[in-house]
Amino acid sequence: MKTIDALILAAGKGTRMRSQGPKVLNTLLGETMLCHVIGAINALPWISVIRVVAGHQAPLVIEEAARLSSRFSRDISCIEQKEQKGTGHALMTAMPRLSGSDGVLVVNGDAPLIEAQMLDSFLARADGADIAFLTLDLADAGAYGRVVRRNGHVAAIVEAKDYDPAIYGPLEDAHEVNAGIYLFSLSAAEKLLPCLSCANKSGEYYITDMIALGKKEGMDVRGIPVGDMETEPESLLGVNTPLELSNAESILRARVAEHLIQQGVIIHYPENARISPFADIAPGAELFGPIEIYGDSHVREGALIRSHCVIRNSSIDVGAEIREFSHLEGAQVHTGAIVGPFARLRTGTILEENVHVGDFVELKKTRLGKGSKANHLAYLGDCEVGSGVNIGAGTITCNYDGKNKYQTRICDGSFIGSNASIVAPVTIGEGSLIGAGSVITKNVPDGSLGIGRTRQVNLPRRKK
Ligand code: UD1
Ligand code: CA
Repeated sequence: MKTIDALILAAGKGTRMRSQGPKVLNTLLGETMLCHVIGAINALPWISVIRVVAGHQAPLVIEEAARLSSRFSRDISCIEQKEQKGTGHALMTAMPRLSGSDGVLVVNGDAPLIEAQMLDSFLARADGADIAFLTLDLADAGAYGRVVRRNGHVAAIVEAKDYDPAIYGPLEDAHEVNAGIYLFSLSAAEKLLPCLSCANKSGEYYITDMIALGKKEGMDVRGIPVGDMETEPESLLGVNTPLELSNAESILRARVAEHLIQQGVIIHYPENARISPFADIAPGAELFGPIEIYGDSHVREGALIRSHCVIRNSSIDVGAEIREFSHLEGAQVHTGAIVGPFARLRTGTILEENVHVGDFVELKKTRLGKGSKANHLAYLGDCEVGSGVNIGAGTITCNYDGKNKYQTRICDGSFIGSNASIVAPVTIGEGSLIGAGSVITKNVPDGSLGIGRTRQVNLPRRKK
């Protein structure tokens, strides 16, 4: 197979979306549209480079492309289209920056449901063509560009705005639409791009005009219906409005849940399981909806996640259990640990084997060693806790003095009485005991009892 560059068009303003940022940075299941599109393209073996055309609020798109570049471990850089003069102009702007491979796969950045296997069959069917594009049959084709055929052969793509029923027949009868995914041989693109004009209703250079121009030149132009491939046609839906975004997200949500169930993940109430397609959930894990799992998350076999949990960029090992209403972000939960209900694990939390963290416990940049417990109402931040430690209810590590954060160490086998305030930086030695209600400001040596509170006095009560 030939090598192909991929070009994602993502410079448009997205006026119909009405969001503040660039349209392609709107998210579905916790990931940007750009991430979903790049995720599909990244899985194709014959793509040499991936380039993104950025324009409207370009710095934000460039930043996201850089993030995705490290996430997918490949060079994904942006080409700036300073003025957004249309999809054809976007390709013109990118041409000098393509790698000189055999062709360019152009994908609209607002098609977040596309799948690698669909692009793969498209490229196989497009092999040898000068121009090929994917088409889709829609009962209600709205603003999509219509595919005009003569004797079954593609003649043109006509934008809905520019569609003249006197020439092409009633618009309502034109159901075959352009999906916004094209393959151009480099020579066809070089030849046709200078011929584009902006004499149309939008005053833009349309990439879609290259179809009629190519036909005029006698080129091999193929409109490939997605219906001929083993793909859900809805994978091609474009996202231009909040309603389309919401519909696309529902489709993706259902697709991910169904795929996971087929793989052997048990999902109760899957209609309410919102799981990123990039999350890695092993067969044999059991999830209860409503549930949200996003980002670079890993849930291993036998892990149990109960309902109303929100999990981002976290890993949950074999046989760990996350109970109801817990929130995890950037946390690692190892085998046999039990978290929640109502626990909050923030970035940098590591729970080693068989740790228990209970309700209303918040942890940040904190490691709890094997078998340690913090079962109720505690805040541990910037804290290294050994194994077999018991953290009493109401324990607080005072890790912040208003300017800087400080570390706390609580060594193996210690017992922290309820309602202790541990003022960092401080170390509680191995096997120590901290009296309930203490304010601990000094290190406590191994095997000691640390108490920092006023002694109780009982006085006779005044006579009334
Ligand atoms: C486009 C197609 C239409 C097709 C539909 C499929 C054209 C002229 N029309 O219409 O035939 O049915 O997609 O979804 O191409 N963009 C740029 N630079 C620009 C303008 C747009 O990079 O100057 C990007 C946008 O960010 C977007 C993509 O190109 O990701 C498509 O542009 P959009 O305005 O959404 O085109 P549609 O009107 O949806
Ligand atoms: Ca669009």
